[in-house]
Amino acid sequence: MRILKNSKLLFIVLALILVLSACSSNNSSSNSSNNSGDEKASSGDGEKVKLVYARGKDATGATDVMVEEFMKQNPNIEIEFREMPTDTGAQHDAYVTMLNAESSEIDVFDIDVIWPAEFAQAGYVLPLDRFIEKDGVNMDDYNQGPVTAATFNGKQWAMPKFIDTGMLFYRSDLVSEAPKTWDDLMTQASELKGQEGTKFGYLMQAKQYEGLVCNAVEFVASYGGAFIDENGEVVINSPEAIKGISKLVEVANSDFVPGNINTFTEVESHTAFIEGQAPFIRNWPYQYALANDEEQSKIVGNVEVAPLPEGDAGSAAALGGWMAAINKFSEHPQESWEFLKFMTGQEGQKIDAIEGSHAPTLPALFEDKEIIEANPFFGEEGFQTALEAAVSRPVAPNYPEISEIIQIHVSKAIAGEETPEEAAAAMEKEMNEKLEK
Ligand code: GLC
Repeated sequence: MRILKNSKLLFIVLALILVLSACSSNNSSSNSSNNSGDEKASSGDGEKVKLVYARGKDATGATDVMVEEFMKQNPNIEIEFREMPTDTGAQHDAYVTMLNAESSEIDVFDIDVIWPAEFAQAGYVLPLDRFIEKDGVNMDDYNQGPVTAATFNGKQWAMPKFIDTGMLFYRSDLVSEAPKTWDDLMTQASELKGQEGTKFGYLMQAKQYEGLVCNAVEFVASYGGAFIDENGEVVINSPEAIKGISKLVEVANSDFVPGNINTFTEVESHTAFIEGQAPFIRNWPYQYALANDEEQSKIVGNVEVAPLPEGDAGSAAALGGWMAAINKFSEHPQESWEFLKFMTGQEGQKIDAIEGSHAPTLPALFEDKEIIEANPFFGEEGFQTALEAAVSRPVAPNYPEISEIIQIHVSKAIAGEETPEEAAAAMEKEMNEKLEK
C-alpha cells in the first residue's frame, strides 16, 4: 500500500516538474520579449494599439473623462476600461490570479498604496525608471510619501495617482456645527436620525474587508493607540488601542447606523449618503464629487467636510490612495507608459481632481484655481495638515495576512463574539506569529 502510494506520488511529482519546466521555458521567452520593453513590442507604424486599463468601479465617472481626453490626444492608442471589483481585497486577488498566470490581458492597472512592495517583489509590474529618465519626469514634483511607498530595491514600480485620507462629510442643511469628538458625533447622530427624511445618523464601512481596517486604524489612533509601531513592534494590546476598538464597537452597534452595517463598504455607505439617508458619513475625498453630482445625488450643494471626530488623543485619519503600474507581461509597454504618464501627470490628475475630488499627488495642483473651485476643502489649511498627518496602515511585507487578522477580530468584536480586550489580545498573538515567520 505504502509503496503504491509513494510511487503514485513520485509520478505526480515528476509530472509536475515536467509541467513546471515547460511553463518556465515559456516564461523566460515571454519575459525576455516583454521585458525588453522597447517600442518594438508596440506598433509604432501608425497602427492603432489597444490597451486595457483596469481599476475598480469609479463611481464619480472621472476615469471616463480622463480616458477620453487621453484618446483625443493620442489617436493611435485606444483604451478599454476594465472594471474590477470595488472592494480592494477582491481587486487585489483578481490581479494576483491574472498576474500569477503571467496574463497580458490587462496593460495598466491601479495599485492600492498597501500593495507596491508585494507586487514588485512578485514581479508583477515593470520597473518604470528608464521611462521616467527618458521622458525627464521629475519624481521630486510628487508628494514623497507615495513615491517612497512605490520604491522597492531602489526602483520605482508605480506612479502615484491620488492620496486618500479618511474624512467626515456632513449635511450642511441638517448639521449646524461639525462634531468635535466621537461622543459629540454620537449625540448628534442620535438626534438627527429620522429628521428630514434621513433613516440613519452615521454611515461608516464595517464589513469584514480592508475598509474596516481603515476605520479601525482611525478609531485606535484617535485614542492614542496603534496596531504596529514604527519599529515593527505589535502594540495593539494597549489600553489606548482597546479604548479605540471599544468606541468603534459602540458606534457600529448603536441604533443610528444601519442594522446591517457589517455589510457596508464604501459603495453601500456612499449610496445611502447621496440618497439623503444620513447626516454624517466617514469616507474618502471622492465622496464630495459624488455628493455634488446632479445625475446621482439628492444632496447636491448640501455637503461639508470636516476632520474625523477626536478621541482622547485627537483626530486621526487613515492614509489611503492609489497608484498605477504597468503589467510586466503587457505586450505594449511603451504605449502603456504614455497612458500612465498622462494619467498620473498634471493633466490626468487635474481631471481626476475636478471630476472625482481625488486629492492630487502633485502638490502644485493644490494651487490650481479650477481644482480648488471644484473642491473648496482642498484649499483649506486643515486639509493639507490632515493629509500630512494621516496614519499609514501597518507596514509589513506580508500586509494581506496582517490585514486579515485585523479584519477578523475587529469583526468579531463588532458582532459581540469577542470583547475588545479579547480581540486585542488575539490580534497581538496572531500578528506576532506572522511577523516572526
Ligand atoms: C480606498 C483607499 C485605499 C483603501 C481602501 C479600503 O480606496 O484609497 O487605500 O485600501 O479605500 O477600502
